[in-house]
Amino acid sequence: MEKIKEIKLKDLDAKKFICQKAGGIKDIVGDGLVINALSGGVDSSAVTMLGHKALGNNLKTYFINNGIMREGEPAKIVAIFKKLGVTVKILDARDKFFFSLRGITDPEKKREAITQTFYKDVFGKLVRQSKAKYLLQGTILTDVDETVAGIKRQHNVFEQLGIDPQKAFGYKIIEPLVQLRKDGVRMIAKACGLPESVYNRMPFPGPALAARVIGEVNPEKIKIVRLATAITEEELRPIKAFQYMAILHNDRVTGMRSGKRNFGLQIEIRCWDSIDARRAIPTNLPYSTLTKLAQRITNVVPGVVSVTYNITSKPPSTMEAI
Ligand code: XMP
Repeated sequence: MEKIKEIKLKDLDAKKFICQKAGGIKDIVGDGLVINALSGGVDSSAVTMLGHKALGNNLKTYFINNGIMREGEPAKIVAIFKKLGVTVKILDARDKFFFSLRGITDPEKKREAITQTFYKDVFGKLVRQSKAKYLLQGTILTDVDETVAGIKRQHNVFEQLGIDPQKAFGYKIIEPLVQLRKDGVRMIAKACGLPESVYNRMPFPGPALAARVIGEVNPEKIKIVRLATAITEEELRPIKAFQYMAILHNDRVTGMRSGKRNFGLQIEIRCWDSIDARRAIPTNLPYSTLTKLAQRITNVVPGVVSVTYNITSKPPSTMEAI
């Protein structure tokens, strides 16, 4: 397999890159139909704009509601793209994803279940129905690196693992951002006309909130981690860290409420300073911010009696919990 040639931020000419990649997409697909999934993250947003520039209405963009997204995401993302003239259809696949995750506790198996449901089941069906031959997606170089190194199976990496998407799923995958890292993608997203709320958006993993539930993922646990995530994002937004998140642990601990024993849930907060997600250190958060966060989470999120802050760097930690 040919080594991917990285384009560093200092060498990136956004206008030229957009023209070349849009032209490249058009050359590959001609007048054919292409499908892509928009999650609202900076990578899939940038790739949607590139595809739209290259193909116009021949790009069909879907927001897959997998049930493990953050609060209010589908409507928010559809509205942002509507303003830019891009139609995004929402596909409700919540049951399929939760069904595929039933009983799975191993982190890599959870990732694999999400990957298979997404690419084989949901997308396989969409592609067959629409007769598209290509899926356009926003894989970046960091996704490839970590997958190939065997650290974490990123949801969107196949060929570098020797998996032929055509054989495995019945369609080909086009990855115009694969030479870039996050900083480069942000530059392209901005140059494509996306608003700052998107091009400066904090990264969010493909396996979504499932990457932040330790143990089995089910709708009840997602509800808890979603609520804790909303509070964490609200409290930590002003800090402007690279990424921050709430994680729901599997183990319970003894707490107390109204003078009674309460064997309750634990939430772990992580907040990272990083440039490109390859290395990261925990943000030196003010103690008052941490205690406020703990108070809000234990007051609002049902069943939570313990909130902790991760103080370990990556490596040896990784940024997401699974
Ligand atoms: P880790 O947890 O590997 O995360 O230190 C590094 C960065 O990558 C994001 N991440 C993912 N992004 N698909 C993605 O598109 C994935 O499967 C995935 N897993 C982790 C994570 O949020 C962090 O920014």
